[in-house]
Amino acid sequence: MASSCPGAATAHSCSSRPTPWLWGFRSMPLSQHKISAAGSDSTGAAMTAVTSKGPPVPEELNRGIARFYDSSSSVWEDVWGEHMHHGFYDPGKPLKGDHRAAQVRMIEEALAWAGIPADEEKPKKIVDVGCGIGGSARHLSRKYSAMVRGITLSPVQAQRANNITAEAGLGEKVSFQVADALNQPFPDNEFDLVWSMESGEHMPDKRKFMQELVRVAAPGGRLLIVTWCHRDLSPEESSLRKEEQELLDKICSAYYLPAWCSAFDYVELAKELQLEDVRAEDWSVYVSPFWPAVIASALNPKALFGLLRSGWTTIRGAFAMTYMIQGYKSGLIKFAVITGRKPVAR
Ligand SMILES: C[S@@+](CC[C@H](N)C(=O)[O-])C[C@H]1O[C@@H](n2cnc3c(N)ncnc32)[C@H](O)[C@@H]1O
Repeated sequence: MASSCPGAATAHSCSSRPTPWLWGFRSMPLSQHKISAAGSDSTGAAMTAVTSKGPPVPEELNRGIARFYDSSSSVWEDVWGEHMHHGFYDPGKPLKGDHRAAQVRMIEEALAWAGIPADEEKPKKIVDVGCGIGGSARHLSRKYSAMVRGITLSPVQAQRANNITAEAGLGEKVSFQVADALNQPFPDNEFDLVWSMESGEHMPDKRKFMQELVRVAAPGGRLLIVTWCHRDLSPEESSLRKEEQELLDKICSAYYLPAWCSAFDYVELAKELQLEDVRAEDWSVYVSPFWPAVIASALNPKALFGLLRSGWTTIRGAFAMTYMIQGYKSGLIKFAVITGRKPVAR
């Protein structure tokens, strides 16, 4: 399958794995981008996500996201621990270790794939954009002895992240605050590594999101985005199919997501923002055991009790898990990794 996306179809760092599906289809040009979660036209070049109810009011969306994570994070932590992202699994092989180990492996695989150095060139300042309760941030700080700043929309998460970090003795190096990824409280050119693990799907304006990631990256610094995308569109298509859009709509309502974009769209944005060494890959094959495992874990008595206690938003999120499985199985949902480097001289 030929890639229409120069720079995207580079080999995975581990050649013994099955070749991942490479981005071979295009999505729409951004100038005529229709956001597919609801099939409505977007505002074109701004690439602002639109839902079936019209463009989301960012403040409302952000309040919903904050409420969702405020109420669900402790249930998740009780059952799954400090990482709120997919695990990385060997396709077709039995699970090595536990699911938490698979989540840590996801971080390590992403770092290796993006070529983040572990020697003197290692990142010294890192930002974790959409940090959850700080699992990635602490891992990255320990691995690289780095200073890490994390931002989340959820006050409960920021507080919990700071508490765990202090208990772990990392309080001098790692800290968290409530802030919007689209308006980050950091100066320009600050971070050697800009890390976003499964937060991009929440961003209502992907261009602004990418612009902010690039702005805070130091010259020569690397962006690493791991995110949910919809499939790329074929050359004949101008939007997703109706039933695909309906499925994404249900997921959007449950998880406070605006409309989705494809990995190809991210690559186009990265190139538009003049990033170098831009690459993207589909890792859906490596995450397929994740959602069935989350469903199984939700059925234990402790988790069920936690779900009931935490309220409707969390319960609705639990019901939507089967939609994720359906989306992956049909090829509609893609688990994407995207990276690029900010040029040294801009
Ligand atoms: C699925 S969790 C991932 C958490 C973490 N990266 C991890 O892997 O454990 C999504 C995170 O994105 C954050 N988020 C969503 N939209 C955001 C925004 N506009 N600004 C900052 N954080 C945001 C949420 O608050 C939440 O912490």
